[in-house]
Amino acid sequence: MTGTKSLLILANWKMQLNNAESLALFKEIDEELKGLKNTEGMGVIICPSFTALPEIAKLIPETKIKLGAQDVFWEQVGVYTGEVSPEMLKECNCQYVLVGHSDRRTYLKETDEMVHLKIKATLASLLSPVICVGETFKERQLGRKDYVVIRQVTQALSGIDLILDSTQLIIAYEPVWVIGSGQAIDSEEAEYMHQVIKQSLIDLYPMKIVENCFRIIYGGSINSQIVKSFLVQPHIDGVLVGGASLNKEEFIGIIKEAIKVQKFK
Ligand code: 13P
Repeated sequence: MTGTKSLLILANWKMQLNNAESLALFKEIDEELKGLKNTEGMGVIICPSFTALPEIAKLIPETKIKLGAQDVFWEQVGVYTGEVSPEMLKECNCQYVLVGHSDRRTYLKETDEMVHLKIKATLASLLSPVICVGETFKERQLGRKDYVVIRQVTQALSGIDLILDSTQLIIAYEPVWVIGSGQAIDSEEAEYMHQVIKQSLIDLYPMKIVENCFRIIYGGSINSQIVKSFLVQPHIDGVLVGGASLNKEEFIGIIKEAIKVQKFK
């Protein structure tokens, strides 16, 4: 567990880059990051495709970047064709894993129950889950966004015991309808949803656990122009970046903004 209030900047590269492109972009970002001052305490985490992990894993000990995977299975070994276990991700130097991303909930029909099992397996292997939650446009129109997010958080975590020195858990609030749209929600609305998420966590765990073990971050059309307005919000501990993380200048621009804000957090 880190226990620090460092800002987290996560890149989700989705299925956008081949192995050579992934390795090249990782090296470019690493190079830039090494040239930046005041990055101590900042968490920069990149989640490439599974197939790119082994090559990038070799570079991890020499970088300031931490590695994450985009998905995981809930068993460690067995007859599960196509699946990848938490221990296999650890072999690739991963410390983080995205769980329940809306792409997977939408296209792979991933359920809250599956998300729950994945979180349990992830924590058992001392990996940090990045639990993705968020409402669809229809759910929002029906006035159900708070309900949906509270349900997703509660079903993901209920019955999972945490102790003070547990691995860090990250909740990523990503309104589904905003992802890839180029138009983020208002940062104050995001702040409100982060408060809703925090309240759901307080309903599940003692305050000390919530404060020490959890970070809550925002994702959805973040770029270097708007990221500051999110990071200055009191309950927003970082961002999960899709499209803009594929562009070195943009992603480094986001990190530079975070460095400015970090001083005041
Ligand atoms: P965009 O930043 O492209 O909207 O993607 C967000 C996302 O889904 C990150 O997981």
